[in-house]
Amino acid sequence: MLKLAVLVSGGGTNLQALIDAVNDGTLARTRIVLVVSSRGDAHALTRAREQDIPVFVAGRAQYPDAAARADAIGGALRGAGADLVVLAGYMSIVPPELTQAFAGRIINIHPSLIPKHCGLGFYGKNVHRAVLDAGETESGATVHFVDEGVDTGPVILQEKVPVLPGDSADSLAARVLVTEHRILVEAVRRFADAERIT
Ligand code: GRF
Repeated sequence: MLKLAVLVSGGGTNLQALIDAVNDGTLARTRIVLVVSSRGDAHALTRAREQDIPVFVAGRAQYPDAAARADAIGGALRGAGADLVVLAGYMSIVPPELTQAFAGRIINIHPSLIPKHCGLGFYGKNVHRAVLDAGETESGATVHFVDEGVDTGPVILQEKVPVLPGDSADSLAARVLVTEHRILVEAVRRFADAERIT
């Protein structure tokens, strides 16, 4: 059984894609054991609670001290027995204590074709605005390993999405989000398969 911990900050549509895939058997032998949110008002928490998934809120508001916050999150991940940590719309930087403790077992979904339009400040709609401002004819989504950098870890899966004439940041975001959901589920499925082999 692959035990997932999912880190969230907002609406949680990527979390919902994982929940749906577990429930419909696409992610067989996979269980979401914990959802950690950096915000107490994240709708992602409602999605978790609807599935009786344990939740843990650990943002600056709850833990103003960064080291204490890292300890609290690390303790929650270990306590839940997480095998794989998934950043799904998580808007905080993961500190080295955690990227090192979970090296090779922490992945992120980013709404662009890394290494394009990523790094500090490139999150949510900012990414899609940058893609449009750059006059790109295509964008996409990337699942990558999380290392000490921001959006710099090795790419696991990437899928292209067309930029259409007249696209706004919102219309492009909506098109990319569908691809994010699909490749995030596929990336987790590969981990689950790999775990079955080992
Ligand atoms: C989206 O912009 C997505 O590209 C990124 O985080 C944002 C919110 O995702 N991964 P979610 O709906 O909270 O999963």
